[in-house]
Amino acid sequence: MHLQRIQVPDFRVLKDVDIIFEKEFEPPIFPLGSLNGGGKSTLLQLIFILLHCSIKPEQIEFLKNLLQGFKIREDEDKRVLAIIDIWHSEKTIQINFSSYPYFYFKHLLNEKYQNSQLNLKYNDDYISIRQDEISQKIESYFTSEGLLYICDYKQTEELYNNEEETAAILLCHIDGIDITEAEYFLQELSKQVFLAAPATQVFLFLSQECRKLLFRKENDQSNYYLHFEEAKSKLPGFFAYDFVAVELLIEAFIAARDRDFRQAIETGEYGNNYQAILNELKLVLGNKKVNITTDFSGISFTLDKDGETIELYPEDLSHGELKRLSIYIWLKYRNIEDAIVLMDEIEIAFHPDWQYQIISDLKEWAPNNQYILATHSYELCQALTPSHVKEIEPKLIKPESQN
Ligand SMILES: Nc1ncnc2c1ncn2[C@@H]1O[C@H](COP(=O)(O)OP(=O)(O)OP(=O)(O)O)[C@@H](O)[C@H]1O
Ligand SMILES: [Mg+2]
Repeated sequence: MHLQRIQVPDFRVLKDVDIIFEKEFEPPIFPLGSLNGGGKSTLLQLIFILLHCSIKPEQIEFLKNLLQGFKIREDEDKRVLAIIDIWHSEKTIQINFSSYPYFYFKHLLNEKYQNSQLNLKYNDDYISIRQDEISQKIESYFTSEGLLYICDYKQTEELYNNEEETAAILLCHIDGIDITEAEYFLQELSKQVFLAAPATQVFLFLSQECRKLLFRKENDQSNYYLHFEEAKSKLPGFFAYDFVAVELLIEAFIAARDRDFRQAIETGEYGNNYQAILNELKLVLGNKKVNITTDFSGISFTLDKDGETIELYPEDLSHGELKRLSIYIWLKYRNIEDAIVLMDEIEIAFHPDWQYQIISDLKEWAPNNQYILATHSYELCQALTPSHVKEIEPKLIKPESQN
């Protein structure tokens, strides 16, 4: 999978974004730059949530959160959210996500079928048109138009007399494959999109109430982290890379041990998978050897210093060491391959040498992925050609009187 092009006409801070990530470029690693507040994180989260969450009912809440405030203007029948081109199986597949006002469909379907069955269901505190409640007529209408229903959402939190006024429907139109294959394609795509970001940033896919907790008193903040952990558990493609994924590493050691033992049963000789992991990890941290504790409950590090061997644990590592190791473990042991990997603020905690080095690390650790790296680091950009570096330009929006 390769993200070839992203177009975002107007979403939050993003205006007229149109970025091409050339599929011929080697390595397929693209730094994404802008001033602070230019929209890098917004763009990565939008791509991730649209591609990772659109097709799975248990993740749709994250998309609805992100869409909050995405209003269709009164003079519009629809509003384009994003157009994403994916290079897959030797062809370009274009996915167009657009929002439609609920009224537009109601009117259109009423005309078409006299009496449409598109009815909003009122839950306790939000409106939803559940997918299984969409009548067959509506579904066949969507199919005939080449459209796929993604979700409905409230355009605004403001109170209106009639809740229908605020309801909108997000649909997607896919060019390049038949509509009957669209759902399967989106399912496959959702497994191949990943986002890594520091836990300390604000995530637009959490609900607004939850995000507000971060800026309140201390015990509210701890509630925020509970919500954040819950969101992480529902988003397998998301990784907050500030902490070493110790569990993943333990799993990798256990799998290597089992493979070695199986080989001993089959051939009489133990395999070298365990040794291979030790050697790989040694290369990541240079002067420290990583090993699993003998009870298989954690990992430890040994450092040879002045003839003495010092034992260390993950909590003893430096911020940069932890981050480098965690990126390595995440890519290697989650088997992230042939994927679109979006990484925000990758350079934080790295010395300029390691900022430069991370490009060859990614190439070496998981070479079959495409990487889009939101960054402020010149050192990182210098490890690639200038054409690899993509920018979100701040466009000056003219005051209305000048239009
Ligand atoms: N609804 C909105 N409409 C327009 N702009 C918005 C909206 N919501 C937030 N913003 C602006 O979007 C910006 C946040 O964008 P984002 O976090 O994506 O930037 P960034 O490029 O990642 O910045 P940094 O480099 O500092 O991390 C802020 O400047 C904020 O004021
Ligand atoms: Mg950012």
